[in-house]
Amino acid sequence: MAAIGLKGVGVVLGAIGLMTLGAAATSSAQAPTSPSYTADGKLEFPKGYRTWIYLTSGMDMSYVEGPQNTGVSMFDNVFVNPEAWASFQKTGTWPDKTVLVLEVRAGQQNGSINKRGRFQTDRVGAEIHVKDTARFKGGWAFFAFDGEKPGQLLPTSAACYSCHQQHAAVDTTFVQFYPTLLPIAREHKTFGQGYLADEAAAKASH
Ligand code: HEC
Repeated sequence: MAAIGLKGVGVVLGAIGLMTLGAAATSSAQAPTSPSYTADGKLEFPKGYRTWIYLTSGMDMSYVEGPQNTGVSMFDNVFVNPEAWASFQKTGTWPDKTVLVLEVRAGQQNGSINKRGRFQTDRVGAEIHVKDTARFKGGWAFFAFDGEKPGQLLPTSAACYSCHQQHAAVDTTFVQFYPTLLPIAREHKTFGQGYLADEAAAKASH
């Protein structure tokens, strides 16, 4: 009797285990990777973005001429939601509801066994570029975040929009710096006019 009883318990526990596994699998598959907004138009911070597709890391990138800043380094890491990434593989451009996250992390030299170069430490900021054609004129919008609080929509007069429009390779995103996507865009011929003009000018000046 006791043996049967224990076996019974085992079956029940097993079933609960499976149910929990099932629930976990569903919830991670359904974890919202499409943009979600607050009632006052802020963008919810996509807390799971670190499990999305990684595109690049830039270190101390600067878009204006000027002295190198020494001592302090900043890294940026770019991630995109997996659905948009899958679509880009087929088309060489972004679908509606694309969410690109740029996080900024401090760079540090002294730590542990490190003697040269720099490694990444704390996140010091995050910005998001989102494509939502029903919501934004021009299709895309930028949001700035304070920690993981809902992010503020940046006005179209902000410099973000003009630089991305004029210089970014594909659909106002900087695919020229995302090495796994650049060949796909080239193959699908999805480069924007501004980027092609920049490339032509760079060639001519060399
Ligand atoms: C002078 C040009 C310039 C301006 C101004 C600019 N960016 Fe960017 N942005 C870039 C470049 C270059 C990259 C690629 C970064 C990399 O390769 O790591 C980038 C990448 C991004 C990305 C990653 C997704 C994408 O679109 O490629 C986000 C998000 C982003 N910028 C947000 C902003 C926001 C928000 C502002 C305004 C506050 C802004 N940017 C202003 C040049 C610019």
